[in-house]
Amino acid sequence: MIVTRPPMGWNSWNTFAANIDETLIKQIADKMVDEGYLDCGYEYLVIDDCWSEHQRDERGRLVPDHVKFPNGMKALADYVHSKGLKFGIYSCVGNYTCAGYPASFEYEFIDAEIFAEWGIDYLKLDYCYKPQSEEGAKLYRRMGLALANCGRDIVLSACSWGADETHRWIKSTGSHLWRSTGDIFDNFESVKTLYNIQKGIFEYNGQGCFNDMDMLIVGMSGKGHVGCENCCTTEEYRTHFSIWSFFGSPLMIGSDIRNQTPETKAILQNKEVIAVDQDAAYRQPYLLMSNPSGADVWVRHMENGDILFGFFNMGDHEVGFPISFTDLGLNRSTGVVLKLRDLWKGEELGTFEDIFVTGVPAHTSKLIRAKLIKK
Ligand code: GAL
Repeated sequence: MIVTRPPMGWNSWNTFAANIDETLIKQIADKMVDEGYLDCGYEYLVIDDCWSEHQRDERGRLVPDHVKFPNGMKALADYVHSKGLKFGIYSCVGNYTCAGYPASFEYEFIDAEIFAEWGIDYLKLDYCYKPQSEEGAKLYRRMGLALANCGRDIVLSACSWGADETHRWIKSTGSHLWRSTGDIFDNFESVKTLYNIQKGIFEYNGQGCFNDMDMLIVGMSGKGHVGCENCCTTEEYRTHFSIWSFFGSPLMIGSDIRNQTPETKAILQNKEVIAVDQDAAYRQPYLLMSNPSGADVWVRHMENGDILFGFFNMGDHEVGFPISFTDLGLNRSTGVVLKLRDLWKGEELGTFEDIFVTGVPAHTSKLIRAKLIKK
């Protein structure tokens, strides 16, 4: 199975942690469809940690928590599928999940079989309680093989937080996406930290195995489980979403989509920005300019021949950027001018020759898409 676009969906962890049950998951499934998320591409509904009983059954099989999921996972998967969505679940390569539930170490083939039986489409596989003597790569490879032989297409979402130089071996495991960073928290410092980590490993991203910058915090505004001393402002959430989309990260919503503000929805459902994330080519971006205060300009060439500019100002002061087209290789001799569109404003900015100058206020971003026009 080859995954050609960064997976998109919703995950229970950021907001609900252990407080998950069948009613919640069904409500989320309904909202993903009724509120237009599925239409935008958010198709995976993923249950994170804390879904099982603390003991396997007598045949060594995982058992869904009887109180939280009284009808079991097959029935819930059927419901999720009936909505046109795909269904994801969670385990770990170690002996226990991070929250202390039974996990997949030396049960990989049994677990893959039951996940297939339940109709699971996506497995997030965490890194907690890994026996020290075991190599992480080997354990992800073992689950990769178990899933590839279970008779069902199941996306493998590795979650080893970039530990043990994950980028060096993850593509050998059969994982389709891999957490390239530690856990996200609901503040701008955290977004900045994950961005800085990504700047060191973005070259590893690409079709088949995407760098996963972690679940989105857009719209959490203190309501979640992942902390919030200085919750992001709407503008900061927009910067976070711009960065994830620019770098082609999976987009897994972490906030409660049952009660979203219009501002949050407008960020998560901006189709032009999502199209950036989902661009079919996923060409490697390159860094065009940087300002020592923490502001960068990146460029990515899109599948249809457009050029995309990502302006990310993580610093505390406004920065002005003069973009010389010569630096893009578009010297005057090419006879090419650029017709620019601001994707967040949804506005045409006009046609520019030789140079484009723009200011980027602190903590904000701009995504500007350019069409190449022959003069
Ligand atoms: C962490 C993981 C989180 C979440 C949590 C569950 O290791 O990075 O995304 O899955 O475990 O316990």
